[in-house]
Amino acid sequence: MSGVRFPPDYRLDSLRRDHPRNHFKCGQEKVDDWLATKALQHQEKHLSVTKVLLDGAGAIAGYYTLATKQVDFADLSADVAKHLPRRLLPAALLAWFGISLAHQGKGLGKLLLAQALSDCYQAGQIFAFVGVVVDCIDDAAKQFYQRWSFEELPGHPYRLFLSATTLEAIVKDL
Ligand SMILES: CC(C)(COP(=O)(O)OP(=O)(O)OC[C@H]1O[C@@H](n2cnc3c(N)ncnc32)[C@H](O)[C@@H]1OP(=O)(O)O)[C@@H](O)C(=O)NCCC(=O)NCCS
Repeated sequence: MSGVRFPPDYRLDSLRRDHPRNHFKCGQEKVDDWLATKALQHQEKHLSVTKVLLDGAGAIAGYYTLATKQVDFADLSADVAKHLPRRLLPAALLAWFGISLAHQGKGLGKLLLAQALSDCYQAGQIFAFVGVVVDCIDDAAKQFYQRWSFEELPGHPYRLFLSATTLEAIVKDL
């Protein structure tokens, strides 16, 4: 596991009040609004954690928000559920994710997702969960995540799941 390396000039930081979060625009208003209006408040209430990728000028090039969640055993694919208890199960949630329009198409989404998954893996070494859940905003986002072995949960076409076993394999390969 060699970790994620962002291009020179970019750096990852935990979201703070002095970051220019109102200027972030990624083409999905909901994703912009969450960062501008909710991310910090939820972080202060310990509901979620947001990390921002800053460019050389200090603008937010991308961000992700992680939280926890419970998934119902019955919502998992038969293959994943095979050896799991029949109850609500702990999961990590990739709650929000975006790259600003000015920085899209340069491979930063890929790197930032790798970083988010790496954070999930690290957290899973201390607080166990069965996998990572992400709710996709549209088909394009779904395609983006599916490149990373996220699988559709049966009956929930826009909710994807990455098992802890696959997460470990991905992160160890970074
Ligand atoms: C989806 C998003 C994060 C991709 O970010 P990005 O920095 O442009 O992505 P990258 O340049 O790292 O692309 C990584 C790979 O994914 C592919 N990809 C990027 N956007 C894609 C899309 N919308 N659909 C399918 N594949 C996509 C790229 O072609 C690239 O493939 P490659 O590895 O073969 O070259 C970005 O477009 C975005 O923020 N969109 C708006 C917000 C959003 O949808 N967030 C997800 C919320 S659920």
